[in-house]
Amino acid sequence: MMAATRWRTLSNCWFLLVSNMETTIFTSVPQIRMAFVKMPTMESVHNLITKARGEERMTFKGAKISFHALGFDNPSSPYGFYTLLMRLMNFHVTDDGSSLVYIDNISLSESKDLRETLKKIGCVKNFLPLLNKLFIEFESVYDADRLGVWYSLLKKPPGHILHREKTPISSCTSPSPKLPEQALPDSTEAVTWATVPSIKSGIPQGSAAPFWIPLKSSPYLFPTISPWFNIPGRDIGNHSKKLLKVKNFGSNIIMLTGLQESFYTHQNVAQLVWQYFPEPGIQTLYYNIIVLPLQRRAFVFFPDWTACSNFVQDHVSKPISLNGNALSVHFVTEPMSLEFSEEMLYKTAMKLCNARVSEMEALEERLLCVEINEAAVHVTQIVLDVVASIAPFVSFLMLGNRNPKTEPPTCEMAENDSKLVLHSSSDLPDVAMNEEGEKPGVEMDKDMGLCS
Ligand SMILES: *[C@@H]1O[C@H](CO)[C@@H](O)[C@H](O)[C@H]1NC(C)=O
Ligand SMILES: *[C@@H]1O[C@H](CO)[C@@H](O)[C@H](O)[C@H]1NC(C)=O
Ligand SMILES: *[C@@H]1O[C@H](CO)[C@@H](O)[C@H](O)[C@H]1NC(C)=O
Repeated sequence: MMAATRWRTLSNCWFLLVSNMETTIFTSVPQIRMAFVKMPTMESVHNLITKARGEERMTFKGAKISFHALGFDNPSSPYGFYTLLMRLMNFHVTDDGSSLVYIDNISLSESKDLRETLKKIGCVKNFLPLLNKLFIEFESVYDADRLGVWYSLLKKPPGHILHREKTPISSCTSPSPKLPEQALPDSTEAVTWATVPSIKSGIPQGSAAPFWIPLKSSPYLFPTISPWFNIPGRDIGNHSKKLLKVKNFGSNIIMLTGLQESFYTHQNVAQLVWQYFPEPGIQTLYYNIIVLPLQRRAFVFFPDWTACSNFVQDHVSKPISLNGNALSVHFVTEPMSLEFSEEMLYKTAMKLCNARVSEMEALEERLLCVEINEAAVHVTQIVLDVVASIAPFVSFLMLGNRNPKTEPPTCEMAENDSKLVLHSSSDLPDVAMNEEGEKPGVEMDKDMGLCS
């Protein structure tokens, strides 16, 4: 916090506006009474400085201002801008961006309030508010997780746009969340069900970052290094075959972890377990197998204990993998019920995500299923932006693509009426297209009729 504290002693904030210029970035740092403007060309820099010299006095709000060209490459990202600013202040940034959170659309007074909150969240290394932006550098990548979780648990999150400057990656099993209690907002501000996840038996082997937690507003997803969702299982570890034969672990449900970030489908996961179902059908595909791509795990409800233990025994002798990627297998020891409807599936999956379905009535009429072609995070963000521009939604869930060609995130809408508004996939921007130039199909939950 050192730098920020020192800057705070300089008062008399002002900022600089440059009009009639095709500027692309405009940022001001009130604490040091400077503004940085990214100009489109060298020529425009030259013209601006020449014009400023020609004027007798160039003032802004009564204060004389001067222009200087900086001998630096244009920073291409907020992270680049942050390191540049810190360099100007003689601070060397060692972090690669994964401990840095950049918040846009935040006023100076909101930054001040957030600073108080950060005392609770803890482990802040530097706090740098700009006029409508804020950089927060945490002491470690594990500490930065907590800010995203804190936002995700707010009842009424402000319109801040939260970016983690680099998606954290772990090559082996991720560590448990650090200081999880400190990520909880005060009870007055938090959603009623706010809790930190229960991770009773440690992080399952093979669960590697990034994981993504949902935010209520754009960009909708925040990457974390630790899993911040419920883990209701335990590793099969080295249970011997004999033990498996006699011991029923209380349920016939298996959790698979270690899924890749993308490049697989719901069907690929289903193929791993298909042979253990005596009569697999569409219902098996839709409801006995839940794939949660943002958490890189899947759940399989086997028809009975024999099928479940056969699967595990086969795995012990020949470990399963998906696209050459080894998966880990865990018994789910907490009760989970298998339900055959979209609403119940949504409720079950939301609970696993350490989220809840809102208490509003008529969930059936408020669920919107949007099919997209690719499980990629950026496509999901684009689709959610489009959905939000049409009607507000309270939460969403991303599932594996159960339809052979598509991948649905499911949105819980705030109003029944929103079903009328999303008419067709032509409302979606071109970026959401797949390689064949097809836009995501847009499909309403059953009973609503297809809109696409
Ligand atoms: C910026 O914040 C305001 C509230 O302070 C909010 O109304 C607005 O939607 C936000 N803008 C964006 C682009 O999120
Ligand atoms: C089984 O695994 C546990 C830890 O997972 C270990 O402590 C124990 O020694 C192992 N037992 C055998 C027989 O390998
Ligand atoms: C949504 O629909 C349900 C049942 O059809 C109705 O009881 C409820 O009032 C509706 N809510 C809104 C916000 O229209």
